[in-house]
Amino acid sequence: MALIEVARGDITEENVDAVVTAANESLLGGGGVDGVVHRAAGPRLAEAGAAIGPCPPGDAMATSAFDLDPPVRHVIHTVGPVWEGGDQGEAETLASCYRRSVQVADELGVRSLAFPAIATGVYGYPADQAAHIAVATLRSTPTHVQRIRLVAFDQDTYEHLTAALRGQ
Ligand code: APR
Repeated sequence: MALIEVARGDITEENVDAVVTAANESLLGGGGVDGVVHRAAGPRLAEAGAAIGPCPPGDAMATSAFDLDPPVRHVIHTVGPVWEGGDQGEAETLASCYRRSVQVADELGVRSLAFPAIATGVYGYPADQAAHIAVATLRSTPTHVQRIRLVAFDQDTYEHLTAALRGQ
């Protein structure tokens, strides 16, 4: 059972073994947190993404972290659902992003992992619903990862994640 923490900040400043990025299916990089991670990791991240992509929504694929500062060794690219109102299986796809990212982390022997609030930006997933899915999925996924950090870039996301962690 992993310790799950909520933190406020920039995921590229996290001191963890692996960071998750909210990617698009091409894994070539984009805006939002994906843009920040690609800028910090350097151009080799997109090259590595191109070599293993495309990544379907709900799945997760790992590459090296390249120029990201130690101790980060891996970037786990996961593709969230585009919010279409909630009746297109978005909740299960989002849950799968968290589940598959943890499974990939386990395959890599990762012991500490940081997530952004997947799908809640450009893809429009309501942050409160996404927070509950993140916490519930992480709490129900067996793993050897010891520490999982949910990194909120803004106060609203931070409050939703904190409430979800408290079970509210
Ligand atoms: N650290 C942590 N979280 C961040 C950072 C950062 N430096 N920058 C942005 N975020 C947060 C956003 O505030 C949002 O809460 O990441 C969350 C996810 O938002 P997006 O990055 O827009 O991701 P998503 O909604 O999954 O959309 C993915 O956007 O950038 C493109 O290539 C990406 O096509 C894909 C789509």
